[in-house]
Amino acid sequence: MDSPVVAQPKPYLVTLERGRAYFWCACGRSGRQPFCDGSHKDTGIEPRRFVAARTEEVLLCGCKHTRGGPFCDGAHTNLPGGSPLDDPDSPANRAIPLVTETDGPRRWLDGGCFLIRPEAAPKACCGSLRHCRIVGTELGARHQTQFLLEAEGGTPPVSVGVSEAILLVSSGRGELVLSGRTFPVQARDGVYLRPRETLELVPSPGESLKVFLLASPPAALEWPAGRSDHFDGRFPQRVVAVDPAQRTGMGPRFFQILVDKRVGSGVATQFIGHIPRSKAAPHRHLYEETLIVLSGRGCMWTETRKAAVAEGDVIFLPRKQLHSLEATCAEGLSVVGVICPGDNPSINYYD
Ligand code: FES
Repeated sequence: MDSPVVAQPKPYLVTLERGRAYFWCACGRSGRQPFCDGSHKDTGIEPRRFVAARTEEVLLCGCKHTRGGPFCDGAHTNLPGGSPLDDPDSPANRAIPLVTETDGPRRWLDGGCFLIRPEAAPKACCGSLRHCRIVGTELGARHQTQFLLEAEGGTPPVSVGVSEAILLVSSGRGELVLSGRTFPVQARDGVYLRPRETLELVPSPGESLKVFLLASPPAALEWPAGRSDHFDGRFPQRVVAVDPAQRTGMGPRFFQILVDKRVGSGVATQFIGHIPRSKAAPHRHLYEETLIVLSGRGCMWTETRKAAVAEGDVIFLPRKQLHSLEATCAEGLSVVGVICPGDNPSINYYD
């Protein structure tokens, strides 16, 4: 059997029609990419027939190295030409202005993309819990609401109703109590909260806890009179720690999945990733994304604007928005992201 050839080291964005059958080119030789034109004859490679379950935009693999054919699974990012870089000092890029004007704690880029510095956002209090809303539908999000929670002592129970929540312990050490079940946590842990469960933050003595909470579908914080005892025991693992052995390479970058469907998350996926000093070529995703900058300095680029980012900033990125997150410091950028809907942060596409 011949080997597949790379038709292009990136996926094809196509709109499928519900109920229609397609033949995806698996050999890479078709002149009708990403579909078959019969060129696989004598290669020993057969096209993949599939029927679209719904009418939707999808990314079909162009590199022919996906293990999830016909769909892109990010394998192209580790092939030659699959993770192209961009020169931040090119004449075109130097002409892009740096955004410094603020809208409260936010700076706006193109297409509804914004950066927020949560430290500068006004906080409300409920008992010992300080909180603020940093991403929501009023700011263009379709799949999420995100909050920052800060506690210096044990907090009252809070919930997001029938939504799921993905949390990042941004700093501190202590325990999270999920509907009566106690989980020790530390900085950089990812945590998953099921619908209707309550959350309490209990910092260790002398510590404070800072936690980002993303609710999907979008929801407000609710303050029940007491702790819910409905811990969903079907999903007992709720805390996922950083583990370098679980990293996935993505060109010069790498990431580790934290919270995803393995611990019960239905539509959103959380990951921790690292970007070495570089600027990726501008690209898009079919999912909505938020990124929390854990360390380092960088620059977020969209078509006609760019803004400096630093530790503590949160970036909201609408679906399909062209962008590039550049790491500008020697140690690179560490980020935690949540994509929704989606399960693979390495799937991107280029114009
Ligand atoms: S284009 Fe082949 S895996 Fe993405």
